[in-house]
Amino acid sequence: MKILVTGGLGYIGSHTSVELMHQKYEIILVDNLCNSNEKVLENIKKITQVMPQFYKIDLTDKVALEKIFKENTLDVVIHFAGLKAVGESVKKPIKYYTNNLISTLNLLEMMQKYHVKKLVFSSSATVYGNPGNPKYTESMGRGQTVNPYGSIKSMIEQILEDLYASDNRWCIAILRYFNPIGAHESGLLGETPNGIPNNLMPYIMQVASGKRKFLNIFGNDYPTKDGTGVRDFIHVVDVAKGHVKALEKIKKEGHGIYTYNLGNGIGYSVMDLVNTFERVNGVKIPYKITARREGDLAEYFADPTKAKEELHWETEKTIEDMCRDSWNYEKNN
Ligand code: NAD
Ligand code: UFG
Repeated sequence: MKILVTGGLGYIGSHTSVELMHQKYEIILVDNLCNSNEKVLENIKKITQVMPQFYKIDLTDKVALEKIFKENTLDVVIHFAGLKAVGESVKKPIKYYTNNLISTLNLLEMMQKYHVKKLVFSSSATVYGNPGNPKYTESMGRGQTVNPYGSIKSMIEQILEDLYASDNRWCIAILRYFNPIGAHESGLLGETPNGIPNNLMPYIMQVASGKRKFLNIFGNDYPTKDGTGVRDFIHVVDVAKGHVKALEKIKKEGHGIYTYNLGNGIGYSVMDLVNTFERVNGVKIPYKITARREGDLAEYFADPTKAKEELHWETEKTIEDMCRDSWNYEKNN
């Protein structure tokens, strides 16, 4: 079985590629390297002993993309590629709509043309909007999104539903990730954001390594257990393994559209993460409490029951693993 992995050199794509290779799947990676680099390819090889085939191609370039479909007989596509900085999507909506939507539409067009009708898509908990209940269940459906990044994820989910309605030979898994953090235990793969990190764990790591003096904690007056925001942090390797399970599901089913949360089902607060990081790694994280960040919700976490029952997938890693592996990667890099 040949699998095309778009965004395969990115944070989640690279971890998933390793898990797929461990299961002996043949993979082809495509990435334009706008948020990754070719060293990731070397590191995938170091972990798996195999160098995957790689195309440096921008998915918005349909002609270049078609070359991959002409040169290879593909069975499945796992689609990670996209821009993912929520704040930047608010400032540069056209850049985000163009890149993330056109890439996906080109990909779907090529899949249809070359009769590749099995797809796993990276969605996000952000598509729930603000449903009122912090425990997000797939049956809640999509809500009102609050930024272009989230709106595009929601639109793509709708496009996939429309596509399936038009031709029920498609088999599609939509995976809604919660907050992936952590890194590969080898220290060879992880997340290295460009510029000032937006997300909590990358920021904590830059404080730990002395690149930044302190962490800003955005609010400690939320109605949560300690007043700081609560999220469902999940180890990136567990997320990666969720893709292998989703792939097995769509192989088995043959057709249909299936949506799953990938989360632990546990809400950890910002303070929980800071305290655990300090305890596990023996590194102090100085912090200041600042104002709430606009657009943040107080608390949400996944109901992962559906993925457990239908994909036979459960998280294996703890919050301690997430903190240890993140720091190990940061120290190595
Ligand atoms: P990432 O930025 O590390 O990986 C995305 C990869 O896609 C990068 O390597 C980038 O170079 C590539 N890319 C972007 N645009 C491209 C294009 N036009 N053509 C070819 N390659 C392109 O991000 P990630 O954290 O690995 O996220 C992967 C997917 O998961 C994204 O779709 C993201 O929106 C989604 N997601 C991520 C999170 C998270 O917290 N990391 C949460 C929910 C959903
Ligand atoms: N936070 C801080 N200080 C920081 C960064 C974050 O206190 O420097 C807090 C936030 O206020 C929030 C929590 O840490 O309470 C988590 O924030 P992140 O930015 O790490 O993650 P978000 O939950 O805001 O967003 C993430 C991804 C989105 C995705 C969403 C889906 O970044 O792409 O999860 O659940 F849409």
